[in-house]
Amino acid sequence: MGSELIYRGHDAQPMPDTYSPKPDKPWLPVARAMRYLLREQRLVFVLVGIAIATLLFTVFPGSPSTHSGYGSGQYEPIPGAHMAHYNSFNRFESEHALYQQRAGFGSVSGKVPLGLKRKGLRIVVTGGAGFVGSHLVDRLITRGDSVIVVDNFFTGRKENVMHHFGNPRFELIRHDVVEPLLLEVDQIYHLACPASPVHYKFNPVKTIKTNVVGTLNMLGLAKRVGARFLLTSTSEVYGDPLQHPQVETYWGNVNPIGVRSCYDEGKRTAETLTMDYHRGAGVEVRIARIFNTYGPRMCIDDGRVVSNFVAQALRKEPMTVYGDGKQTRSFQYVSDLVEGLMRLMEGEHVGPFNLGNPGEFTMLELAEVVKETIDPNAKIEFKPNTEDDPHKRKPDITRAKELLGWEPKVPLRKGLPLMVSDFRQRIFGDHKEGVASGSSSS
Ligand SMILES: NC(=O)c1ccc[n+]([C@@H]2O[C@H](COP(=O)([O-])OP(=O)(O)OC[C@H]3O[C@@H](n4cnc5c(N)ncnc54)[C@H](O)[C@@H]3O)[C@@H](O)[C@H]2O)c1
Repeated sequence: MGSELIYRGHDAQPMPDTYSPKPDKPWLPVARAMRYLLREQRLVFVLVGIAIATLLFTVFPGSPSTHSGYGSGQYEPIPGAHMAHYNSFNRFESEHALYQQRAGFGSVSGKVPLGLKRKGLRIVVTGGAGFVGSHLVDRLITRGDSVIVVDNFFTGRKENVMHHFGNPRFELIRHDVVEPLLLEVDQIYHLACPASPVHYKFNPVKTIKTNVVGTLNMLGLAKRVGARFLLTSTSEVYGDPLQHPQVETYWGNVNPIGVRSCYDEGKRTAETLTMDYHRGAGVEVRIARIFNTYGPRMCIDDGRVVSNFVAQALRKEPMTVYGDGKQTRSFQYVSDLVEGLMRLMEGEHVGPFNLGNPGEFTMLELAEVVKETIDPNAKIEFKPNTEDDPHKRKPDITRAKELLGWEPKVPLRKGLPLMVSDFRQRIFGDHKEGVASGSSSS
């Protein structure tokens, strides 16, 4: 039984060996593919597609690969903004590349999909309804960027920015920077802070809170969304300087418990926070130390010397000189400052940078220029000097010249008449107040 199961072959007829394998046809798959391609003009369509793609990549070759090419199509790179490495100034290439990548420009991620237009930057200007901020906003909007102004209107005015109302690239948010805020932006210009002694002494605790908590909030925002952050610090960080003119490496001579300390020490702390976020969290930061600036849209009667003299001379009141009038100041026209701030933001150096006009005037000399411009018969009235008023102030701007390619262009005798005509309109009740004022400056 077992053998039957195993072997039955002896019953079977032997089969003739007729099987012969078919010869190999290696060309068969290629021939099939060719036949497929040639059918229904498929090859023609493929060739036309390749030709169109080649043409498009030749005519629209991706985005610019240099840093200076970022921003909107209208943006002109600022000559000289990218200078040689300066050792004492922090420059972090890797962070810079990361920032470019996040901001969607530069070589890393700059390719804009076909059919989409490259957009301008999204920029927050805190304090943008104030004197300096509103001129900065004008320039950014003109450049093609989208600007969000964040302001609590403590010293700022809607009139300073209302000529942008209705522009889809402009937004205005009433907000106090002491409270946190979340916005998706590429750059933050942080200006929010009362700047004149009258205003910052009005509520000193609020002033230091704005400088410390407000700056913390904006640095936190910069860290969160990967934005570049610029702090507008001040020459007041040098206090009553023992070094003249002041270079950025000078650490200052500041009274920590005086009536101006809320501002001076507040700004010094803001600088510290800015550098700590830079070193500790890799936030891209810039620091500007601004010296006395004047121009249209300054607050009238804010106690700053230029606005005081101009308002008093226009009203036929005596110009108040505190002390003997021999203390010196330098006066920078606002359009020069705005140019410096933008170069700093777009350059590669952290700073701090002095931004001011080195032309030095005593208070009495300034009063003379105001008399020449407004009223040769204007009188001067002397009053005792205020506490902690620095005796000398003059910026050394060598660094800004070398690394930002920046220096002020507008002399006092040219800038003052522009400010005077704005003040004249506002003091004597011209209804166009603020709307066009200062447009000549930016
Ligand atoms: N103008 C100068 O000569 C000068 C000199 C040195 C430094 N700065 C700095 O430049 C910046 C702008 O100065 P400015 O002359 O335009 O002063 P400004 O008073 O005209 O502008 C400051 C703006 O910040 C706003 N603001 C104040 N506190 C705020 C808060 N908590 N939240 C939101 N907004 C707030 C004000 O309403 C105002 O619009 C300031 O940071 C100032 O310290 C100016």
